[in-house]
Amino acid sequence: MCGIVGFTGAAPAAPILLEGLRRLEYRGYDSAGVAVQHEGAIEMVKASGTVEHLAEMTSNGAALEGGCGIAHTRWATHGAPTDTNAHPHLSEDGRFAVVHNGIIENYAALRRELEGEGYSFASETDTEVVAHLLERYYDGDLRRAVMRTASRLEGSYVLGVLCACEPGRLFCVKEAGPLILGLGVDENYFASDVTALVGYTRNVIYLEDGEMAELTPESVTVYDRTGREIPKSVSHVVWDIEAAEKGGYEHFMMKEIMEQPRAVKSTIEPRIRSGRVELEGLDLTAEDFARFRRIVITACGSAYHAGMVGKYVIESLCRVPVEVDLASELRYRDPIVGEDTLLIVVSQSGETADTIAALRECKARGAYVLAIVNVVGSTIARLADCALYTHAGPEIAVATTKGYTTQLSALYLFAVWAAEKLGRIDEMRYNELVAELSALPARIQRAIDLNLHVKYLAGRWHAQRAMFFIGRNIDYAAALEGSLKLKEISYIHSEAYAAGELKHGTIALIDEGRLVVALCCQTALFEKMVGNIQEVKARGAKVLGLAPEGDRRIFAEADDVLFAPGGEPLFAAAPEIVPLQLFAYYVARENGCDIDKPRNLAKSVTVE
Ligand code: G6P
Repeated sequence: MCGIVGFTGAAPAAPILLEGLRRLEYRGYDSAGVAVQHEGAIEMVKASGTVEHLAEMTSNGAALEGGCGIAHTRWATHGAPTDTNAHPHLSEDGRFAVVHNGIIENYAALRRELEGEGYSFASETDTEVVAHLLERYYDGDLRRAVMRTASRLEGSYVLGVLCACEPGRLFCVKEAGPLILGLGVDENYFASDVTALVGYTRNVIYLEDGEMAELTPESVTVYDRTGREIPKSVSHVVWDIEAAEKGGYEHFMMKEIMEQPRAVKSTIEPRIRSGRVELEGLDLTAEDFARFRRIVITACGSAYHAGMVGKYVIESLCRVPVEVDLASELRYRDPIVGEDTLLIVVSQSGETADTIAALRECKARGAYVLAIVNVVGSTIARLADCALYTHAGPEIAVATTKGYTTQLSALYLFAVWAAEKLGRIDEMRYNELVAELSALPARIQRAIDLNLHVKYLAGRWHAQRAMFFIGRNIDYAAALEGSLKLKEISYIHSEAYAAGELKHGTIALIDEGRLVVALCCQTALFEKMVGNIQEVKARGAKVLGLAPEGDRRIFAEADDVLFAPGGEPLFAAAPEIVPLQLFAYYVARENGCDIDKPRNLAKSVTVE
């Protein structure tokens, strides 16, 4: 979703800003723009389309002179993705340029007010009111103008502000939505996330909501809402630039699928010491834990699907009721949550707007919050009572892969840890599960190695108009994610169903030649799945079966077969999703889709 970059220093700003935008492309966008200060004026270029298009229009930035500027990739919310609606937006007198991420909820009222005063608007965006407000409030003191402008805005916004008459000076404001300052030598930056900065600096400051920063080449100053200067600590980012590059793969998605054994190892290995699961930062005692009468897991998208798997695993091992709720639903349904609730928030980015809101809502009601999150220093990590980082490294492809499997791994670790704390499993079972956790990276690697023929199968099935995924128990939770992978990158309609539920309606959609992917990795339920496979075959469906390695019974049932390595069935979702990720990838590739940046999607959904 929208990306923001700002730079001030001695070097030409535009090429640096364009490079920053390239690094933010993965977030999802449909137009891009850049503005720089030059000889007391603002020069701006913006257009719908790609950052590459913007680079061509500006000779890769060379056409824009000046060492201080702001840039933006826009994911349209208010107004279509046109050249005019692209950011930056200028004030009527052309002295102020603004980039914005988020939604200004009271923009219509502000627009009416400003129009009443004679300001005319060029775009349909909510953002343009900010540029006009800055013009109205500027009396020679830019900081005061930015503060007064921000105080008029309602909603979620991150702003970058440039003023023609304040050489080398930039402002940025954070009110819900990610914003990070990058500290260089005689140059400073701001950006929506660290991937835009790591090519230039690893020293960063994470801003909190309600904070504003003033940047010059030599200094960075952070203020609170009242304009009081506040001290901030500098963090060091450990990700390097290679981690955010394709490394020889055609797509980030394939690179990230292949990285899963290593990523899962980074989640699990540091937390197993001398055969015990140790969750640093989660210093709840057995008594603390016993006060939780229920666990609520909340998340969006694939993280929600990871939460579904978590429910099965935690309930099975800990015998504590677990509810999984979409964050966008939980936040508005007056949830029954209190001090007896452990809230587990799952998020790769740590910046998903609905997930943050659900977290806040539950925390206000007294819930203890554990965040399972990838991005260190993200909003969710900071709001939670404790965080279990997944250490997946940067994930660039919009369709998550290693983000999901590392979230599963963190949930497995938590389930085993909690089951032992609560005394719900004996020492033998505990040791067995710990060994299974340690074996998970190898199991995922085996899942990759076993499925070299997925590309061939994708060639057979890519022309389907719709597909169905069925499974029971954990296989059902994994089916939801397998189906989502397929639809989000290949645009083939696909649905996941609990296999036993199929006959209550959906089976009406099964017609001659329709592909049904049947997940059969919960061995105890294999025979039940055979029944469901028979039902769809009797109605003309073709079946792609997914079974534990070596379970030859599947050959008698399915038309085509995928395998996932066997092992602890409770942890089956992590290996079994791998062939489904590969299947979605190759089907999308066959169909010529934009795999890393599917249409209409954003990686980090920072608006509601
Ligand atoms: C977006 C992404 C999904 C992701 C979801 C939640 O929709 O496209 O891949 O699962 O957001 O993101 P989070 O960063 O909170 O895990």
